[in-house]
Amino acid sequence: MSNPASPPAVGVLDQGPELTFPPGFLWGAATAAYQIEGAAAEGGRTPSIWDTFSHTAGRTVAGHTGDVACDHYHRMPDDVRLMAELGLKSYRFSVSWPRVQPGGTGAANQEGLDFYRRLVDELLAHDIEPWLTLYHWDLPQPLEDAGGWPARDTAARFADYAQLVADALGDRVKYWTTLNEPWCSAFLGYGSGVHAPGRSDGGDAVRAGHHLMLGHGLAVQALRASRPQAQLGITLNLYPVTPASDAAGDVDAARRIDGLANRFFLDPVLRGAYPADLRTDLRQVSDFGHVRDGDLTIISSPLDVVGINYYSRHVVAAPVPGAEPEAYWRSPSCWPGSEDVRFVTRGVPVTDMDWEIDAPGLVETLERVHRDYTDLPLYVTENGSAFVDAVVDGQVDDPDRLAYFDAHLRAAHAAISAGVPLKGYFAWSLMDNFEWAWGYTKRFGMVHVDYDSQVRIPKSSARWYAEVIRRNGLAAQ
Ligand code: FCB
Repeated sequence: MSNPASPPAVGVLDQGPELTFPPGFLWGAATAAYQIEGAAAEGGRTPSIWDTFSHTAGRTVAGHTGDVACDHYHRMPDDVRLMAELGLKSYRFSVSWPRVQPGGTGAANQEGLDFYRRLVDELLAHDIEPWLTLYHWDLPQPLEDAGGWPARDTAARFADYAQLVADALGDRVKYWTTLNEPWCSAFLGYGSGVHAPGRSDGGDAVRAGHHLMLGHGLAVQALRASRPQAQLGITLNLYPVTPASDAAGDVDAARRIDGLANRFFLDPVLRGAYPADLRTDLRQVSDFGHVRDGDLTIISSPLDVVGINYYSRHVVAAPVPGAEPEAYWRSPSCWPGSEDVRFVTRGVPVTDMDWEIDAPGLVETLERVHRDYTDLPLYVTENGSAFVDAVVDGQVDDPDRLAYFDAHLRAAHAAISAGVPLKGYFAWSLMDNFEWAWGYTKRFGMVHVDYDSQVRIPKSSARWYAEVIRRNGLAAQ
């Protein structure tokens, strides 16, 4: 981007008084290792479950893999320069577990750690706060072969890995997220199987969810002991879940999906207990015999921040007797015990993922977490949208993505005005990347990536975001 301080391409900011964010608001953008790094077999990295999955026929659209992705592993200094040009205050990235601890056990791979040391140094040199996520879904394949997240031992392996990363980077990284979206790891990875490792068993999904949270708690304890200054948190993907009508069956459907999507994680992590109604809903699937004494104390170890990823709302309705389960939200089997709940589309505008655009849902989500769960500082650690983009004369104009960001930042501001301690916002994503099972067919970036040439072009949303950051605010509407 040649001149980030020039006026935005779209004049959203040019009318009215400012809608200012609190001083020090942490403006960022996020990525994840497997989605951008490439260099899958370089520098001592060994396969993760996503390498295996994406190389298995039929698992990703057009057989796309993260082998090369955005080639960020080789282009990292240029990418950090781009972040600096956009004026980012923070960059949320994830560490690839099999790059820094090949196979998931034993000694660190210094070459892998060196990549992240260079990245952190480069960020700090540009005054960009590094925000490190330890696990964004790339479990080392040998740990999956040993049972994966449904196996209790994986939690202990994760804590060892967390310690190894803290030893290497804890002197320079302040913000740490243990897990990104454990719902996806558990219920898409082991429930519906649309994500790696592609297994499909409701009981395994429930066990995986528990062991992910146990790994989170153990990692928090290890990091807290060795890096007392660190700000520790977890990132959950949360959704408001709304009944399609006031009918009792619809209200109950919403309670069930809210239990699985939100309270399955919020309650153990922030209250130290599974909700009783959730355990009842899951009784055909799991007896929760995998939960041992003391686990919930570990899982609810005190945190410093809570990360929330927000994309959309779920609107649900009661099952219709005799009807086939809905195949919406990719697969019914990611809702074990509640497979026949119907997901309703309201006919409101959607993104290229078919996710309904619902900015007020962000306010609801932030207010709920603050009101019902915690006084801790909250961060939106991901928010964004996929739309089809076109490169025209070397430019990418993306008014729909820009409008999505604009609406959700207004929602974030409204939440702050209502008293929510929201301290930062990370756009998903810095650049187009490997969108998991969708491969390269869905573009979430503020920066366009040409996957043949690896040329990066900041879209108009990126220029607009740079201006928002520079002003620390938006124009009132
Ligand atoms: C989130 C993931 C992120 C990306 C966005 C679109 O669920 O954390 O990696 O895929 O969705």
